[in-house]
Amino acid sequence: MASAEPLKITRIPSLKTVADFRKHVTSLGIELPCEDNIVAGVESPLGKAIEGVTINGKRIGNRYAIQPMEGWDGTTTGRATEEVRRRWQRFGQSGAKVIYGGEAMAIRPDGRANPNQLIICEENKKDFAEIREILVTAHKERFGNTDDLVIGFQLTHSGRFCKPNDKFRTEPRVAYRHPILDKKFKVTSDDQIFTDDEIDRLIEKYIEAAKVARDVGADFVDLKHCHGYLLHEFLGAHTRPGKYGGSFENRTRILRDIVQGIRAGGNKIDIGVRVSAFDFVPFKPDPAQSQPGKLGPGIPEDFSHCLPYRYGFGVNPNNPVEYDLTEAFQFVQLCAQVGVKIVNLSGGSPYYNPHIQRPAIYPPSDGYQPPEDPLVGVARQINVARQIRAKAPKELVIIGTAYSYLQEYLPHVAQYVVRNGWADMIGLGRMVLAYPGILADATGKGELEKKFICRTFSDCTTAPRNGIISGCYPLDKYYATKPENQKLKEVKKAAGV
Ligand SMILES: Cc1cc2nc3c(=O)[nH]c(=O)nc-3n(C[C@H](O)[C@H](O)[C@H](O)COP(=O)(O)O)c2cc1C
Ligand code: SF4
Repeated sequence: MASAEPLKITRIPSLKTVADFRKHVTSLGIELPCEDNIVAGVESPLGKAIEGVTINGKRIGNRYAIQPMEGWDGTTTGRATEEVRRRWQRFGQSGAKVIYGGEAMAIRPDGRANPNQLIICEENKKDFAEIREILVTAHKERFGNTDDLVIGFQLTHSGRFCKPNDKFRTEPRVAYRHPILDKKFKVTSDDQIFTDDEIDRLIEKYIEAAKVARDVGADFVDLKHCHGYLLHEFLGAHTRPGKYGGSFENRTRILRDIVQGIRAGGNKIDIGVRVSAFDFVPFKPDPAQSQPGKLGPGIPEDFSHCLPYRYGFGVNPNNPVEYDLTEAFQFVQLCAQVGVKIVNLSGGSPYYNPHIQRPAIYPPSDGYQPPEDPLVGVARQINVARQIRAKAPKELVIIGTAYSYLQEYLPHVAQYVVRNGWADMIGLGRMVLAYPGILADATGKGELEKKFICRTFSDCTTAPRNGIISGCYPLDKYYATKPENQKLKEVKKAAGV
């Protein structure tokens, strides 16, 4: 494949007005509408409750949600630490009325993405009750009412990305052998494929974790089906034989069995699903344009030997750098049929195509320079959510993702999206690590504090990729003053980011 020219990207802060932003969007040839002004007060579309749906009997009090974000900073037995407690407190102070998962919580020790991931189990119950309580208290102190605040826990097994015992050693377990990813994640034997019996046992652990969540007061559990982690991989297990692979029915059996198992045990907890609704092949830095100290722009890995591409979900098998939403529509229908109440839409994976998953101007250390203007990635996710919202049953709450790169214009775009029904809720990821109250300020004061706006430096991803706890090192003083900050600087220098 020919090397792409390095991209010149217009930085968002250089766009001084909404008119400048619109002009730039037009020049990119993408559909990304926004409103002229940030609306504050009762007229704010983002401040309005969601009607017609309740989670754990509660009406959702506004239209913004906090996306789950792992911090790589629990104890090695999966319990909370000061950093975890602080993060949950800030989530509570954000004003968001849905806390969509908090952070990925492993349902079994071997399913951890890092040795410091939280483990949701009986022994750790006290910690989960505590972090929930901290969040609720922080929300109450700042906003008064918590009757319309809904908190979920995100349940996961990390599959291909497991590093349960050593920050630098992968111990992958997979749904099927992958022609490109196996090499990158050190899958060398069929023994690393989960057997059907092992999956049956894993389903039990999800059911047990949902019981722990219910016992400690969570309003819902999220069954994580995104970003290349295990249940997402099963959605793309076209080549797997047996009852969990092949047909759409088989590839979605785990979801149905977990939901059924939760209900069969009498657990009435509400259920959400976060799904990567689309995917591309893995990307890598273009070797022809990489220099010492500078990663090259992203290009797709060579996929010519694996066409039609049957190794993903929501990807066009004949041209796997394009999405195909046929099965995503079907999957969302299925979610509604089995009684899921919230679907949180994302795309791709931060491990193999981060530019579609979390658009950023600065790459993480294991990534590549942007192959497209990050606004293209933002618009892709917003338009996918729009298409899915249009077809999904009305009673399903749809949350959209990848708004952080919009920076100053995040509220303007978010208002448009919610007012026009492109999504029911705006999910905030990185922006919340930098500026938890961004949408509370927008809906309360009608203006933002620019010094806290996330500029997508990717330090919160680069740090954990290198065994350092995650956090917003550039903008959150709590991390800026930690010794880890110096280590991170050295890692970034060496990686050329
Ligand atoms: C440090 C970090 C940790 C994350 N951890 C999770 C996670 O545990 N579960 C999950 O579903 N997504 C996780 N994500 C992805 C975010 O939820 C979100 O989808 C992504 O950052 C894009 O949204 P944004 O543009 O608002 O940041 C994480 C992202 C970051 C930056
Ligand atoms: S480190 Fe801070 S500024 Fe950088 S992407 Fe993460 S949240 Fe944004």
